[in-house]
Amino acid sequence: MISVRLHPDKHSAAQAIAREIADLIRLRSESGKATVLGLATGSTPLPLYAELVRLSREEGLSFRSVVTFNLDEYAGLSADHPQSYRTFMEENLFRHLDIPAANIHIPDGLTDDAARECGAYEASIRAAGGIDLQVLGIGRTGHIGFNEPPSSADCRTRRVHLDEVTRQDNSVVFGDLAQVPRGALTMGVATILEARRVALLAFGAAKAGIVARAVKEAPSADCPATWLQRHPDCVFHLDAAAAQSL
Ligand code: PGA
Repeated sequence: MISVRLHPDKHSAAQAIAREIADLIRLRSESGKATVLGLATGSTPLPLYAELVRLSREEGLSFRSVVTFNLDEYAGLSADHPQSYRTFMEENLFRHLDIPAANIHIPDGLTDDAARECGAYEASIRAAGGIDLQVLGIGRTGHIGFNEPPSSADCRTRRVHLDEVTRQDNSVVFGDLAQVPRGALTMGVATILEARRVALLAFGAAKAGIVARAVKEAPSADCPATWLQRHPDCVFHLDAAAAQSL
């Protein structure tokens, strides 16, 4: 089931979700347990990551007991490529925290055996005890992670082709469409649905149409975010503009 939570703006949303994550980390670490977070890239989660960094600096929130799994990585980009998701995560989150490097997981975009890499990624998530809270954005195609339409509810971590709409949207960061990779490695829809809690973030009018489809259309591979309706604990954190078509 998807529940919708409206926030005055993306910064208030970031504060609320960061607080939820901080509470989860503190609660679990009190009983000696790790917290497993699923993380997203893109412009949407940036205020959330800034707020987590602030909580770490100003409130002493420790990430030593946190294990992370990112949703996806571009195929063909090295970890140190300026536009890789590894670089994005290092710059915007990890390098500002006390999280041990060994606790960070992002698919290897340079793998020469995608099936093995993706199988190992699924195995690492299971070995960590599964994802406690998965942070998601949503693409204009209805993708979650890089699960572009059509993506079935049972797909797992795998190599995928990027939709041209997504390549266009992401070309802003690359400066030139030709530089945007055509493929990626992504967690699957089934992998995402197994997370115990899901927090999807969407802000601004450009997301209103796809948010309405995700919430209201019958679940189908044509709009992969609709599969979230089958999740027992999924919250869409929206501002008024993103919620205007609900
Ligand atoms: P964005 O991307 O945060 O840059 O809008 C969201 C997504 O593609 O999942």
